[in-house]
Amino acid sequence: MANIEKQKLIIDTDPGHDDALAIMLLEKSGLFDIQAITTVAGNSTIQNTTNNARYILDLLDSKIPIYSGANAPLTRKLILAEVHGPNGLAGANITKQEPLTGTAVERIIELVKNNPHEISILAIGPLTNIADALTRDSSIIPLIREIVIMGGAIAVPGNKNRVAEFNIFVDPDAADIIFRAPIKKTLIPLDACNNVFLSINDFEELKNSPLYRPIKEMMAHYIQGILNFEKTSGAIMYDPLAAYFFINPVAFETEMMDIKIETQSELTRGMTVAERRSWGEKNPNVLVAKSADRAEFTKNFLEILNR
Ligand code: BDR
Ligand code: CA
Repeated sequence: MANIEKQKLIIDTDPGHDDALAIMLLEKSGLFDIQAITTVAGNSTIQNTTNNARYILDLLDSKIPIYSGANAPLTRKLILAEVHGPNGLAGANITKQEPLTGTAVERIIELVKNNPHEISILAIGPLTNIADALTRDSSIIPLIREIVIMGGAIAVPGNKNRVAEFNIFVDPDAADIIFRAPIKKTLIPLDACNNVFLSINDFEELKNSPLYRPIKEMMAHYIQGILNFEKTSGAIMYDPLAAYFFINPVAFETEMMDIKIETQSELTRGMTVAERRSWGEKNPNVLVAKSADRAEFTKNFLEILNR
């Protein structure tokens, strides 16, 4: 039987409880050749998000290399998330300090050049590293296979200000660079994510897995954070849902849209401004997930994590 080549991925991430689950989902699925985890400041500082990435890979007994990246947005001050606690992964027993390589951007450029048209990027933090890579070496733009981004709020309120989702809000200048670049892009915004959440009891399905205890400890904190800030009783699966797009894209209802990023206003900073007028001139630049099949996601997610 022919040896089917696995899809090559870079995961750019700021772990983060939901980032942790996204990494677990892709790694445990066995479907991907994950070439690198690149870390970015967002949910917490670069030191914390990189320590957290190491913690997650250790839990998985995974040898995926970690490269640390930006310690702040391209031009603005870093604004940290609140739901994940001060270290970005409240509830996890983080004991190791991971050395910072500071080489995420170089590594992204190198991997794309060495694997033309083969590397897909899952971006589940602020888009700083990826925008920096495109700016430093624009020759990689036509060589990237696709980027799947967790971010944005199209027809629903924001989760950071009235209109903006956290990842885009933190570094709107980086998002603007990505959204203008002629690269195949898919956006998994709050519109699709808000309805896809797991209760603490759902995680009981994992009780025979070695991941059960660490996941339960992390999720107790995340679920409380989500309840405080979003008023939803469950762990919203933002980043795992974006990861799931690589596994089962038909579980999503999608539409090509023309989206621009607000970078000038303070009030609407980071808004993903979609042309939704029927008569507006449209230059579609991104495939947008409008909704996702929650039952299908939950079934597949728990099955894969149980492997
Ligand atoms: C996004 O913001 C972060 O807090 C999460 O990890 C996710 O990537 C949701 O808005
Ligand atoms: Ca994230």
